[in-house]
Amino acid sequence: MNNQTNSPDIIVEITKSGNRLNAFDKDGTKYTGQITLGARRKAHAGGYPLGRFTNKSGNFYWRQVSSDMMGTTSHIPTASTSVEIPTDHTEVVNFIHNSFNLKPKGLVMKELKWKYLVRSAVRGKNIMMTGSAGCGKTMAAKSLVNSLDRPDYYFNLGATQDPRATLIGNTHFEEGKGTFFSDSLFVQAIQTPDAVILLDELTRAHPDAWNILMTVLDYGQRYLRLDEKAGQDTIKVAPGVTFIATANIGNEYTATRVLDKALMDRFTIVEMDLLTDEEEHGLLDYMFPHVDSDLLKSVATISHMTRINSTSDDARISGGVSTRTSVEMAGLLFDGFDLMEAAEVSIFPQYPNDGGVDSERTFVKQIVQKFVSDGSEEELFSEEEMSEATS
Ligand SMILES: Nc1ncnc2c1ncn2[C@@H]1O[C@H](COP(=O)(O)OP(=O)(O)OP(=O)(O)O)[C@@H](O)[C@H]1O
Ligand SMILES: [Mg+2]
Repeated sequence: MNNQTNSPDIIVEITKSGNRLNAFDKDGTKYTGQITLGARRKAHAGGYPLGRFTNKSGNFYWRQVSSDMMGTTSHIPTASTSVEIPTDHTEVVNFIHNSFNLKPKGLVMKELKWKYLVRSAVRGKNIMMTGSAGCGKTMAAKSLVNSLDRPDYYFNLGATQDPRATLIGNTHFEEGKGTFFSDSLFVQAIQTPDAVILLDELTRAHPDAWNILMTVLDYGQRYLRLDEKAGQDTIKVAPGVTFIATANIGNEYTATRVLDKALMDRFTIVEMDLLTDEEEHGLLDYMFPHVDSDLLKSVATISHMTRINSTSDDARISGGVSTRTSVEMAGLLFDGFDLMEAAEVSIFPQYPNDGGVDSERTFVKQIVQKFVSDGSEEELFSEEEMSEATS
C-alpha cells in the first residue's frame, strides 16, 4: 500500500519550556519525542510550525509548513516547566510531594489525586484515568505527560479503525523491494526507555486492541507479539516505560464496550472527580476573566444542578451537564451570546425532546429559565431551592 501523502496529518508549534523545546499540536498533544532536536531548534528559531508527512515506506517525517496551517491553539494548558525525575528514594519522595506546582493552573484536580497520578507515573505503573464524560481525563493525562521530562507518545485508540496497523504495523509492497513490514509508531514507543505512552479512549477501542495490549501491559510479560512480521515475533517493552490510558466508563456510555476485566486488572485506577460548583465557577473565572463572574456562576450552578438531579433518587434526567459543556457555554457568553442562547445550542441538544412537557429537555430548560433574569423576583430560585441544589 502506498501511504505517501502530500498534506500533513499533524501540525505542531515549537515552544520553549525550561530548557526544552517542545512540540505541541493545537489540541495540546505533545510530539516532542518524534521530532529531532535539530528540527525543533530550527523551527523555533525560524518561528514556523512543522507538519508530519508520511513517506513511501509508510514512515513519518517532519518538515516546515506555512504558519496559517497551525490554526488557533485551544485552551489545553501546558506546564510552564518540565523536570527530570530523580532516582534516589528520598528525592523521589520529595519530587512526588512537591509535584503539585507542575500541575497547570487551568486543570482543576485535587492535590492528592494529582500527586497519586505523578507517583504512579514515577513508579512505572499502568495508569487508567476514569470518570464521567468531559471531566478532564484526557486533559489530566496530557498535563501529566507534559510535566514530566520524558519522551512521550499519544495514541487515540477510540479513533483508530485498524488496531493492528496502529499497534503493530503494516505490510507494504514496493516494486524491486518486494513485500516488507513497517513497524508502527507504537512499536517505536515501547522500545524507548522511560517513554510515557498515552492510550486515549481505551474503552472505545476495538477488542483486538485490548488483546494486543494484554501482554504489553502485564508487569510479568511486558512484550508485544508481532505475529505478522517474519523473523522476529516479540518485542520487549523498554525499562521505565509508563502507560496512561483513559476510560469512559459510566452508565451514559451505552456505546462504550465494557472493558475486559483482565485488562482492567492491569491498571492502577485514578478517578477524576466531578468538579464542585465552586471549583467549576473558579475554572470558568480563570478561563474567561472578561466574562461577568455572576453569569459564569449561573453556568456552574446550572451544570451542578443537572448533575445533582441526574444522580438523585427521583432523577428527571439521565445525565448531568459536563465541565466540557460548561466551558463551551462560557465561551459562547464570551462571544456575546446570552445565557438562554448559549444553553439552547450547547445544553438542550444533549437531552431528548420526546415526552413533551415531561421530557428531559423541558426539565433542563426549566432549570436554565430560572437563571435568565428579566428583573422579576419569581424567575429566580428561592433561597431554599438554591441551597438545596448546591449543598
Ligand atoms: N478538571 C478540569 N479542569 C479543567 N478543565 C476541565 C476539567 N474537566 C474538563 N475540563 C474542560 O473540558 C474539556 C474536556 O476535557 P477532557 O477532554 O479532558 O475530558 P474527558 O474526561 O477526557 O472527556 P471524554 O470522556 O469525553 O473523553 C477540557 O478541554 C477543558 O476545557
Ligand atoms: Mg477524553
